[in-house]
Amino acid sequence: MAQTMTDKSRVLIFDTTLRDGEQSPGATMTHDEKLEIADMLDEMGVDIIEAGFPIASIGDFEAVSDIAKRAKTSTICGLARAKLPDIDRCWEAVKHAKSPRIHTFIGTSPLHRAIPNLDMDQMAEVIHDTVTHARNLCDNVQWSPMDATRTEHDYLCRVVEIAIKAGATTINIPDTVGYTAPAESAALIRMLLERVPGADEIIFATHCHNDLGMATANALAAVDAGARQIECTINGLGERAGNTALEEVVMAMKVRHDIMPYDTGIDTTKIMNISRRVAQVSGFPVQFNKAIVGKNAFLHESGIHQDGVLKNVETFEIMKPSDIGITETNIAMGKHSGRAALRSKLKDLGYDLADNQLNDVFVRFKALADRKKEIYDDDLVALMSDTAANTADDYLQVKWLRVVCGSDGQEAELKMLVDGEEKSCKSEGDGPVDAVFNCVKSIYPTKAKLKLYQVHAVTEGTDAQATVSVRLEEDGRIVTGSAADTDTILASVKAYVGALNRLRVRSQKTAPDADVKQVSYKL
Ligand code: KIV
Ligand code: ZN
Repeated sequence: MAQTMTDKSRVLIFDTTLRDGEQSPGATMTHDEKLEIADMLDEMGVDIIEAGFPIASIGDFEAVSDIAKRAKTSTICGLARAKLPDIDRCWEAVKHAKSPRIHTFIGTSPLHRAIPNLDMDQMAEVIHDTVTHARNLCDNVQWSPMDATRTEHDYLCRVVEIAIKAGATTINIPDTVGYTAPAESAALIRMLLERVPGADEIIFATHCHNDLGMATANALAAVDAGARQIECTINGLGERAGNTALEEVVMAMKVRHDIMPYDTGIDTTKIMNISRRVAQVSGFPVQFNKAIVGKNAFLHESGIHQDGVLKNVETFEIMKPSDIGITETNIAMGKHSGRAALRSKLKDLGYDLADNQLNDVFVRFKALADRKKEIYDDDLVALMSDTAANTADDYLQVKWLRVVCGSDGQEAELKMLVDGEEKSCKSEGDGPVDAVFNCVKSIYPTKAKLKLYQVHAVTEGTDAQATVSVRLEEDGRIVTGSAADTDTILASVKAYVGALNRLRVRSQKTAPDADVKQVSYKL
């Protein structure tokens, strides 16, 4: 069913974390992680979930189709290039949804027209044929002129009109390279609304990238000019500098409703938990000073502004932490905390666990509590992320590790299970992490190249847990593994092994030439 817009103040939220976000190098998510994120988006009231790019790989197809089958209220959308087989494949994946949508696109700017070597008339014909084909399959069709902000205005008006006549119900205007600025973004939407026949019968969407740091401002300016769908991702995840951040546009319209009188269907109290979860599964941590969801975004409460805030909360606070679901639960748990307390704390953090899952997490929690006196919310989030990322069914598993390091040199001894069989190795290296990674490589030889090794302390103190992210690349596939432990070296090897497990699963599912990055923008 196509979205109808009777309420002029309603702005639809189109989340593309699982497509444009996941497409950013290294942010690959597993099938189960995608389903979990889709469930969270659905529950928080996202109107349209762009669940993937079905033609890109079997994995993408299966994810879109499974998300379509389970979505409760969100419209489920898949991306398709302007090619009939892409559109057919997309429809096969989304058709199971209660409300399916096909999103087809083609690059319309001079630079993009040159790639398939189509002149303006030939491209116009492709647009007509592909949108017509999509509309014959599905009554909810979105069309995007990629790089719209660098497309000649006359040509943009011409192709938008063709797409509308061919049956597109949403026209998305992408600022593909993050080139536009707020005044220009608004003027473009206004121009299309004024000049294109039929423009008042469809919904205009805005899709902004953040290369110049203006994605949020550009999206909101487009809404002011008449766009009624914002395309965005959680934490602004996305290629290069990312996409418009969902939490930023939604909270901006809520907090400044006086000057942006637009409504969304988003339950903002679900923002913090989904932000944390997307950071974990994508391996892209949120910067501390990130608007809305950064660790420091509400720090004035306990920092230097505390006095003012205590006297009058509005002195420094334009929104409440609870508005985005921060339930001031940062009271430490410890080794005497029981199962019920752990369950309730995890529930506050957005993890609703079945009894058997809780038992597993409780064992890990007790092990952590033996090593760390006070366990804070962030420790629990890290623990949950580690539990999800490294499981007992993994092909490669770390069993035991001993490292000797110091001024006399570094040596590591490691025992691992490879498909259930125990293997061990001793290696030296240039530092303890290098020594341990050398052990892994001699037990499980790999061509994968290390692209990123990153360590974060979860909380303060020398007994803090470290979360480690390891990004690997092999044959064009990029994956990220992550792990948490109070022992940084153990966390490092678990993250490395986790990444190797992901790479193995991914190479079984996709041939290198079927990879998303290689098909994404080519006609
Ligand atoms: O940025 C972009 O142009 C896109 C399109 C595929 C909509 O993501
Ligand atoms: Zn994009």
